Amino acid sequence: MHTETGEKIFSGRNPQTKSRCKKDISERSFPFVSKNWMSRKKHDHYYRKAKTEGYRSRAAYKLIQIHRKFGIFREGDTVVELGAAPGGWSQIALRFIGEKGILIGIDLQRIEPIKGAVFIKGDFTEKESADKIKEALGWREVSVVISDMSPNISGVYSTDHARSTYLAELALNFAVENLKRGGVLVVKIFEGEMIRDYLRSAKKHFGMVKLYSPKASRSSSSEIYMIAKGFRGRDGSDMSSENP
Ligand SMILES: C[S@@+](CC[C@H](N)C(=O)[O-])C[C@H]1O[C@@H](n2cnc3c(N)ncnc32)[C@H](O)[C@@H]1O
Repeated sequence: MHTETGEKIFSGRNPQTKSRCKKDISERSFPFVSKNWMSRKKHDHYYRKAKTEGYRSRAAYKLIQIHRKFGIFREGDTVVELGAAPGGWSQIALRFIGEKGILIGIDLQRIEPIKGAVFIKGDFTEKESADKIKEALGWREVSVVISDMSPNISGVYSTDHARSTYLAELALNFAVENLKRGGVLVVKIFEGEMIRDYLRSAKKHFGMVKLYSPKASRSSSSEIYMIAKGFRGRDGSDMSSENP
């Protein structure tokens, strides 16, 4: 259920049959995808909107809604994006950070180039990937880390929740090691019992931590986003500034 502002009320239902990353794939290239699923997808409001408006994924609208609610990006920001394929979020982030901004994105899959973005093909669970991102960043300080990484879905709730939490933890660690003071972190995580500890860890490092479910998330999805603003810095001393 959603409020008028698009927030989903935390329902506590069993998310066993829930979300996976559904990229813009065609029935032709993936003949094993069920006709029912393709048909439901084609009738999906945000899927059709993304096609019309030239976004690479329906997920683009989730980031727009998150930004509208929390003010994530500023012009000239340096953004690191984890799990960036096929590039819908990248398109949105680049729009908000403008020509002076830069986005470094990583994904297991190759991403078609976009002006203003540097894309790395790699597995973020491997240490070398963080090194590659740092190399691409050069002297730049990271203003925002966004992660829409989704694990492979097993269909077993506890497994999928644990896998998603692991990816979210890696994103949090990366943010803590690389964000500048006042920086912002947006992370997808699947609902479940480990969220509480995850939020507790995030609160040690950020002045504001909230959970949010954008209207563009499917109502059947167990995904939720953690928005953390006002990074306190690696020494934890700066409690006041937010993405200055
Ligand atoms: C929901 S999709 C991201 C969609 C993207 N936000 C967009 O709007 O286009 C999740 C992505 O996470 C990526 N991913 C999952 N595990 C990953 C990992 N260990 N390293 C890098 N990318 C990963 C998947 O390959 C997939 O492309």
